[in-house]
Amino acid sequence: MRKLPPVGTRLHGDELWAALRADQTAPDELCAKLSERIPSEKVYLFGSGRAALAALLTATSRLDSRKRVIVPAYTCWSVPAAIVRAGLIVVPAEITPGTLDYDLERLARMDWKDVLAVVSPNLFGLPGDLTRLQGLAEAHDALMIDDAAQALGASLRGYPVGGYGLAGILSFGRGKNITALGGGAALVRDESIQKAMDETADEFRGEPAPPGILAAMKGLAMGAALSPSVYGLASSMPGVVVGRTVYEPQFSTAAMGNARAALASRVLERLDAINQRRGQLAEVLDRFLEQSKAIVLPKARSGAVPAWLRRPLLVIDVSLRDELLEALQTAGIGATAMYPQPVHKIPGIEGDLDLRGAPFDGAERVAESLIALPLVEGMTKQDLETITRTIAKMLGRKRMSKWA
Ligand SMILES: Cc1ncc(COP(=O)(O)O)c(C=O)c1O
Repeated sequence: MRKLPPVGTRLHGDELWAALRADQTAPDELCAKLSERIPSEKVYLFGSGRAALAALLTATSRLDSRKRVIVPAYTCWSVPAAIVRAGLIVVPAEITPGTLDYDLERLARMDWKDVLAVVSPNLFGLPGDLTRLQGLAEAHDALMIDDAAQALGASLRGYPVGGYGLAGILSFGRGKNITALGGGAALVRDESIQKAMDETADEFRGEPAPPGILAAMKGLAMGAALSPSVYGLASSMPGVVVGRTVYEPQFSTAAMGNARAALASRVLERLDAINQRRGQLAEVLDRFLEQSKAIVLPKARSGAVPAWLRRPLLVIDVSLRDELLEALQTAGIGATAMYPQPVHKIPGIEGDLDLRGAPFDGAERVAESLIALPLVEGMTKQDLETITRTIAKMLGRKRMSKWA
């Protein structure tokens, strides 16, 4: 049966072959292209976005003795893992389900004592209120790290996501806006952080790039020679666990390597086209989803241009979420529930948490009600109909009050 993957970028055979022939100029070329898109004084490449974040936080903590880092209470588990890897304490802050952004009123009232940094949300490619977050960070002399791991190509008020605050991070992981079968970048816009990063970065990219990467590229390139293009999902690659969220502060810190840098450079040329296509699919889905009273549809704030990666929706009657998810999956749609728990409930994180921002009702609600719909290349009108029919069948006749 036809199965639609949850996420992924199709890699073209010529891109993969170019990556396999890459030389040592590839990383510099990628850094130059990235700082052209997102103005930065210096770009550092890593084997993953989490390594980029851990390096930035470690470098900053060598300039400043504060130990707390604020993160959205619902976010990718790699974010708190990187904070713990840097020897710092995770401070979850409440989010608003309808925007998936921080609850900025509460964040403004929170105690910022000992806060070294705050990480922006931008999940699913949806920009948070980055201007306001930057204002709060500046008011408390904390470093804002603009996390564009899921939002490369998005913008707010004409300025690129990843470019707010004094630092940003990107990811080229397999489920991101563009993929290089792994990799990440830290973007720095501050002289003292840059100096500290120059001394710290290599501690987070010391291991050689996994040997499986080149083999996977070769395999994918061969696959691409047979069919016009292949998804960069590479589920058999080392370190890749498909469909499972793992919390692992002791993640490996391999270098990005020439091949992945060259692949990212080539696919970056298609970023806007890829984002535009996903945006069009989201628009079609939204026309249907907006009519349903049984779901909440997180929306872009005014002035924001999202880089939709998947289309998140929140099922108001949470008791129906898992059933709907299963129905979509049975129908061949790679819908997912994303992160199984909010940050404060991640198994194993207890000793590294500061719960001053509790309670987290909004984040808990999102974790139990969210479904992320795929927006992948190759999705047909029939796939869109399957999605809308499945949702209408399960939720159509339900009348519910809104909680978000
Ligand atoms: C919001 C967010 N930040 C950071 C990361 C870390 O990126 P990576 O998977 O490349 O380590 C991810 C993805 O895992 C993410 O979704």
